[in-house]
Amino acid sequence: MPTHLRFRRRSFLGLLFLFSLSTSVLYFVYSAPGIVNEYVFMVQARGIQIRENVKNIGAQVLEQVVRGAYSINGTDYSYDFNMSESDAPPTTYLPEGFTYLPSHVCPERLPSMITFLHLIPHDSLDSHNLAFLCPPPAYTEGRLEVNMSEVSLEEVERYLLKGEPSIAPGGYWKPKDCLPRWKVAILVPFRNRHEHLPILLRHLVPILQKQRLQFAFYVVEQGGTEAFNRAMLFNVGFKEAMKDLNWDCLIFHDVDHLVENDRNYYGCTNMPRHFAVKLDKYSYMLPYNEFFGGVSGLTVEQFNKINGFPNAFWGWGGEDDDLWNRVQYANYSVSRPHGEQGRYMSIPHHHRGEVQFLGRYTLLRHSKKRQKVDGLNNLNYSPLLSRRPLYTNITVNLSRNLAPIADY
Ligand SMILES: *[C@@H]1O[C@H](CO)[C@@H](O)[C@H](O)[C@H]1NC(C)=O
Ligand SMILES: *[C@@H]1O[C@H](CO)[C@@H](O)[C@H](O)[C@H]1NC(C)=O
Ligand SMILES: *[C@@H]1O[C@H](CO)[C@@H](O)[C@H](O)[C@H]1NC(C)=O
Ligand SMILES: *[C@@H]1O[C@H](CO)[C@@H](O)[C@H](O)[C@H]1NC(C)=O
Ligand SMILES: *[C@@H]1O[C@H](CO)[C@@H](O)[C@H](O)[C@H]1NC(C)=O
Ligand SMILES: *[C@@H]1O[C@H](CO)[C@@H](O)[C@H](O)[C@H]1NC(C)=O
Repeated sequence: MPTHLRFRRRSFLGLLFLFSLSTSVLYFVYSAPGIVNEYVFMVQARGIQIRENVKNIGAQVLEQVVRGAYSINGTDYSYDFNMSESDAPPTTYLPEGFTYLPSHVCPERLPSMITFLHLIPHDSLDSHNLAFLCPPPAYTEGRLEVNMSEVSLEEVERYLLKGEPSIAPGGYWKPKDCLPRWKVAILVPFRNRHEHLPILLRHLVPILQKQRLQFAFYVVEQGGTEAFNRAMLFNVGFKEAMKDLNWDCLIFHDVDHLVENDRNYYGCTNMPRHFAVKLDKYSYMLPYNEFFGGVSGLTVEQFNKINGFPNAFWGWGGEDDDLWNRVQYANYSVSRPHGEQGRYMSIPHHHRGEVQFLGRYTLLRHSKKRQKVDGLNNLNYSPLLSRRPLYTNITVNLSRNLAPIADY
């Protein structure tokens, strides 16, 4: 074969190869944009992390050099490459020897208690105030081990129902040694994740008890064959929970998110709160400032004011961004736990054939207009309720005609 022909054939094959490569990449991007976005984010996150570490090491080396130059023999400082977070949480320990009082509101976290003790003039520390200085009960430990091993619901029930004060059927609990500061309904949207639920309950219930919150769990399961609608399940869960008890705080909690720090307080604040700030799957970084997914919390008043979640997000993705927008339009600003407190691990899984919602960007462009017409106020449904020992099961078939809204 003449050389120029061989050459042409080879470059043709090369072109063919490039073409098929680029089309398969395009196909991949088209069919799974979420995965690509996530991958691109991970690459960026890793890059930022590496740069941060290099900066830290650089700063520490510089510090050693500077210190060395000013010390007499330059050997009195050891090198310490400590990579842990520099934004350590503010101290949230209760004062030494703190004890609860049945007539007092349960403490939220430490700074307020310390301030409170500082405000008491020393000469007025009578026996009543001194009751605060009695032997310490078990309180939060900070960083926790997360146990992700699978376990049956029955085993978790056996383990948790032994506790005192006991958990009432439906998963209701409240402390007896102080007055709960918040009545918290934990809403968990659910479908096909039966092995995750016991792991969440085993992990989260003891933390909420230590935080002295009054709480109950509502697992809102989507029946039927429509795409998963996390946001609508939250709206259903909210309405059903409010018929049940006058909760004042709502936590919107994914079933696969496990908090790593028990000082991440699950009460509400005067602003909507985003709890799951640093996820292991995002290298413990906030993916973007407007991220509001995983675990979030609003007071009943805040949730009513923003007309709840949107109902129009069928498939995963986007509904949390819409909630963020709603919160902004209502002139709230989101608060977040500080530093290490916002760390979460997520139970590894895939979306299990749940489709992602490709129309979300179109809907998000109209967040403001839709807020008034799509949410708590256009929602119809007929649920099936049953009480389990650790939660209330709300099962509901969802379909688009249950939340009618004009097309955007
Ligand atoms: C300097 O080094 C000597 C030993 O070489 C040591 O005894 C002394 O404590 C060091 N100085 C300081 C300030 O650490
Ligand atoms: C790194 O710093 C953290 C907190 O600042 C501390 O708890 C830990 O012991 C340090 N690790 C080392 C190896 O010095
Ligand atoms: C995790 O939980 C299981 C069952 O609840 C228990 O048997 C196991 O010891 C736990 N593992 C750790 C590390 O705590
Ligand atoms: C939010 O603040 C803006 C400007 O201060 C005001 O015009 C708007 O009415 C407020 N919106 C709500 C829902 O309170
Ligand atoms: C909730 O109840 C439905 C209907 O009884 C049942 O099929 C489902 O498995 C239950 N889900 C959970 C998480 O308990
Ligand atoms: C959901 O729909 C299925 C059949 O379509 C029905 O058997 C079931 O009872 C419905 N569940 C609820 C909670 O309405």
